Amino acid sequence: MKLFLDTADIDEIRIVERWGVLDGVTTNPTLFAKTSGRTYDEVLKEICGITSGPVSAEVVAEDVDGMLKEGRHFAKIADNIVVKVPMSETGLEAISRFAAEGIATNCTLIFSANQGLLAAKAGASLLSPFVGRLDDINEEGMTVIRELSDIIRFHEIDSEVLSASIRHPRHVTDSALAGAHVATLPFKIVQQMVHHPLTDKGIAQFRSDWDAARKALAAKA
Ligand code: G3P
Repeated sequence: MKLFLDTADIDEIRIVERWGVLDGVTTNPTLFAKTSGRTYDEVLKEICGITSGPVSAEVVAEDVDGMLKEGRHFAKIADNIVVKVPMSETGLEAISRFAAEGIATNCTLIFSANQGLLAAKAGASLLSPFVGRLDDINEEGMTVIRELSDIIRFHEIDSEVLSASIRHPRHVTDSALAGAHVATLPFKIVQQMVHHPLTDKGIAQFRSDWDAARKALAAKA
């Protein structure tokens, strides 16, 4: 399963890229609003220079012409831009028009397998069900990931399921087991995946045993 970072924070993206585990980046208007002093275009350009993986840039227009205008503009920023379009009647039309133009899309705000199926049929490369927001309203977000991943594989559809709105590390494991092709994660969750109390304790123990052994040797000399 590929791992994307769900952020517009350049420092976070650089760190995870250095770890060698970054496959792409997803942004949205909320994440962009947390950055300051630069335009969305400038931020996207810098992100595309850090990773060669897909970088999702989200449209805010709600009409087809507006979505097409924004998406075509984003697509010119870099070859690895993927235009993020919300699931809606106009969104499906825009996705289908982008597909005809060879512009890759990520259909966002998916909350059911049927919505994902429609987005795939319209030509979206990435299908983004929001796991955490479904869990928030007492539904089972992972069920959508499992059902949609099964549908995509069973019917050999050329789209990938991207598990989004991930809230904790267990969501990552469950997404991988449910067949998601990609999960997009906040930086904090990638950090949580790195650490385990027994790993951190083990590192400290090895260090202190090593220091004690060297001290003993030095005392003998
Ligand atoms: O990329 C969008 C998605 O991951 C949003 O997550 O935490 O705002 O539900 P969240």
